[in-house]
Amino acid sequence: MVCCTYCWLLMGLLGLSYEVSKPLNQMCTELFINRSYSCEGLGLTELPEELPFMTEVLDFSFNFLHLLQQSTFSRLKALVHLDLTRCQINWVYEGTFESNIFLEIIVFTGNNLLFLASTAFTGPQCLKHLDLTQTGITKLAFIPMQDLHNIETLLLGSNHIQTLELLSDFPIRKLKHLDLQMNNIQTISTRGIKALKQANNLTLNLRDNKIMHIEPKAFSSFSFYSLDFGSCSNISVILDGLQGVSTAILWLGTFLGIDSLPIQESTLQGICNISVDYLTLQYHSFLEPSGDTFQCLSKLKRLDLTHTSLSELRSLPQMNLLKELNLNWNEFLNLCDIDFSAFPSLSHLYIQQNYYPMNLSFGCLESLSKLQHLDLSGSHIESLDCCSNQLQGLIGLQHLNLSHNRKLLFHNAAFNECSNLKVLDLSFTCIIINNNSQSPFHNLHSLQILNLSFSHIDTSKQNILQGLSSLIVLNMNGNTFKSGTIFSDNFLQKAPNLEVLTLASCQLMVIEAKAFSALSKLKYVDLNRNNLTAFCSDVFSSLRNIYLNFANNRIHIIPHDLLTGLSGQSIINLSYNPLECTCSNIGLLTWYKQNIDKIEDSEQTLCAEPKSLAGTKLFSINLSCGYSAAQIALITLVVIIIIVVTFILIMNVLKYKNVRM
Ligand SMILES: *[C@@H]1O[C@H](CO)[C@@H](O)[C@H](O)[C@H]1NC(C)=O
Ligand SMILES: *[C@@H]1O[C@H](CO)[C@@H](O)[C@H](O)[C@H]1NC(C)=O
Ligand SMILES: *[C@@H]1O[C@H](CO)[C@@H](O)[C@H](O)[C@H]1NC(C)=O
Ligand SMILES: *[C@@H]1O[C@H](CO)[C@@H](O)[C@H](O)[C@H]1NC(C)=O
Ligand SMILES: *[C@@H]1O[C@H](CO)[C@@H](O)[C@H](O)[C@H]1NC(C)=O
Ligand SMILES: *[C@@H]1O[C@H](CO)[C@@H](O)[C@H](O)[C@H]1NC(C)=O
Ligand SMILES: *[C@@H]1O[C@H](CO)[C@@H](O)[C@H](O)[C@H]1NC(C)=O
Ligand SMILES: *[C@@H]1O[C@H](CO)[C@@H](O)[C@H](O)[C@H]1NC(C)=O
Ligand SMILES: *[C@@H]1O[C@H](CO)[C@@H](O)[C@H](O)[C@H]1NC(C)=O
Ligand SMILES: *[C@@H]1O[C@H](CO)[C@@H](O)[C@H](O)[C@H]1NC(C)=O
Ligand SMILES: *[C@@H]1O[C@H](CO)[C@@H](O)[C@H](O)[C@H]1NC(C)=O
Repeated sequence: MVCCTYCWLLMGLLGLSYEVSKPLNQMCTELFINRSYSCEGLGLTELPEELPFMTEVLDFSFNFLHLLQQSTFSRLKALVHLDLTRCQINWVYEGTFESNIFLEIIVFTGNNLLFLASTAFTGPQCLKHLDLTQTGITKLAFIPMQDLHNIETLLLGSNHIQTLELLSDFPIRKLKHLDLQMNNIQTISTRGIKALKQANNLTLNLRDNKIMHIEPKAFSSFSFYSLDFGSCSNISVILDGLQGVSTAILWLGTFLGIDSLPIQESTLQGICNISVDYLTLQYHSFLEPSGDTFQCLSKLKRLDLTHTSLSELRSLPQMNLLKELNLNWNEFLNLCDIDFSAFPSLSHLYIQQNYYPMNLSFGCLESLSKLQHLDLSGSHIESLDCCSNQLQGLIGLQHLNLSHNRKLLFHNAAFNECSNLKVLDLSFTCIIINNNSQSPFHNLHSLQILNLSFSHIDTSKQNILQGLSSLIVLNMNGNTFKSGTIFSDNFLQKAPNLEVLTLASCQLMVIEAKAFSALSKLKYVDLNRNNLTAFCSDVFSSLRNIYLNFANNRIHIIPHDLLTGLSGQSIINLSYNPLECTCSNIGLLTWYKQNIDKIEDSEQTLCAEPKSLAGTKLFSINLSCGYSAAQIALITLVVIIIIVVTFILIMNVLKYKNVRM
């Protein structure tokens, strides 16, 4: 195949004139036999004739078609999914898809459409998905709607549409998703959107239009699944127009670098007459937020206030239904600057990446007895007596993320209050355990995942994991062990149910023979990026169905008997080790060839020695280390000669003696 492609290429270069359609077809990739093909970016100017008539999925993006007509796709009667992204199509003539009655998805993204015939979409009985993103459309009337009655997704983003004028023939019956983002729609009138009233669970995206006016009550008693008015600078304009609407999601956020008017006391008043579950206001800013500002948000279930320059949230109205609150990227100085008593039902709270060091004062979260998920990562937190007092009252907490903070000191049981924790992430935060007699985690009998990576934790403390009887996943990456050694007597042995253990980048040089003797359930061990010189598979109690990553170590030689135990679905990764490809490593080299299915990353499993083979892939090494026939013959010859010579000498000596006597 490769060879043949090469021949064609050569003929092309030599200027031989030959029929070119055959090799073109060979370049389309068959993704699923007779059904699915990709001809992406092959510079084709027409459909290769060799595409089987049963083709259902065709990716024909990045080619040159210029115009589409009835004959273009007429042979491919079974087409279901057709991608024509960036094919320089300008003209779509009458009946282009007339023969393609099964067509469900057409993608026209990035073609500058100058003409779409009124019968362009006649034929397909259940066209569901039409993508006209970036096609230069300036008005909706350009699109022939009469054959789109089953349409579910209509994508019209990044065009130049100026008015939202949905005529009475607009196919709303099954429409689930209408995308009009990045157009030039400035005003919305009652008449223009009347057709949307029949919509059921519609997602309407009007993000990034410069909307200046919506006719009052234009959306009154409309119902949506999601409404996106993102990047709008004056929220009041939108809310005035949305009076009386009902939507599960209302997206009013904006983005970094986009100027918008600060939210004032009265700005969000309009939400009182809107039914909404989830509101996002990200990247807006508040002008002196007060209780009145949030007065109309009391029925929300989710609220996203990411990056809204908040430094406090007090005297809020009761938000009894709020389940999820997102306060990432704000400017709190103290956790207690947020009045959490307003959210008694909160189950998920995110305060990541606070701009200033956030002081975790005692008892701020006390009222959140329903909280399950708390994420305080990356908020410069430093606490010299963590965390029982700070987490007081969080009896339902299951997931706690304190990663990427500064420093936490644990004196006694640090998580006394949250004994139901299942996931605890302390990675990249300096952890100091100030108690030799007791583990800070000793009461966390339900904890399944613990991340202590890069936490500078003192690994010589034997009790770290004491009590963690359910622990399945432990991440210890980037911590160091005394003398680069995991001794037989080590803290890991206290977590007998451990299945996943990562010890990458720990500068390990030695793992003692009994180091993991209590960990009989280990299935996945990552020892990547250490300084190990031995592939010490004998430290694991079972090698059946285990994953061992020993990549980036200093292993030269692996004796055969350390490999033979690897059975079942076991996988090992030995990439980036200075492996020897000489007869002293014949054990590995022979096993390797017979067990290539157990090797991960064989492309980077290379020889380092001898110099002549450096950089060669291990699986291509042919080494014969026994004695060859010629060698055996030579040795035999030498032995015979020695015997003969010795015999002759002895005879001579005896003869000489006899003569003398
Ligand atoms: C693919 O199509 C060819 C020609 O129509 C046919 O002979 C072959 O059996 C088909 N293969 C499959 C797997 O359908
Ligand atoms: C409404 O649409 C959303 C997204 O398209 C979907 O996830 C949800 O299940 C739909 N709800 C109903 C009731 O159909
Ligand atoms: C924002 O919109 C409201 C309501 O349409 C209007 O009263 C106000 O003047 C607008 N603000 C600015 C600065 O344009
Ligand atoms: C809510 O709508 C009612 C009736 O349309 C109106 O009287 C009231 O002023 C509106 N409230 C707000 C806060 O806009
Ligand atoms: C944190 O807050 C507590 C009480 O509000 C205060 O005593 C303590 O000094 C603060 N710590 C820091 C580092 O600001
Ligand atoms: C904790 O937060 C960090 C940073 O936000 C994230 O990368 C990590 O996946 C989170 N941990 C868990 C267990 O979800
Ligand atoms: C260590 O923990 C025990 C048990 O909780 C406690 O009695 C003792 O005071 C703690 N020691 C220190 C130094 O905090
Ligand atoms: C810590 O480890 C857990 C489990 O491996 C992982 O889900 C989480 O993303 C890690 N946290 C960070 C900050 O990488
Ligand atoms: C382990 O290897 C790394 C990188 O090869 C090296 O920087 C480090 O000094 C080694 N550590 C020890 C203890 O040899
Ligand atoms: C093997 O380990 C190396 C080092 O961690 C990694 O880069 C590589 O992706 C691994 N191989 C596979 C197939 O995951
Ligand atoms: C080993 O032998 C195979 C075929 O037997 C050959 O393709 C390969 O090039 C040889 N490898 C080396 C390094 O000579």
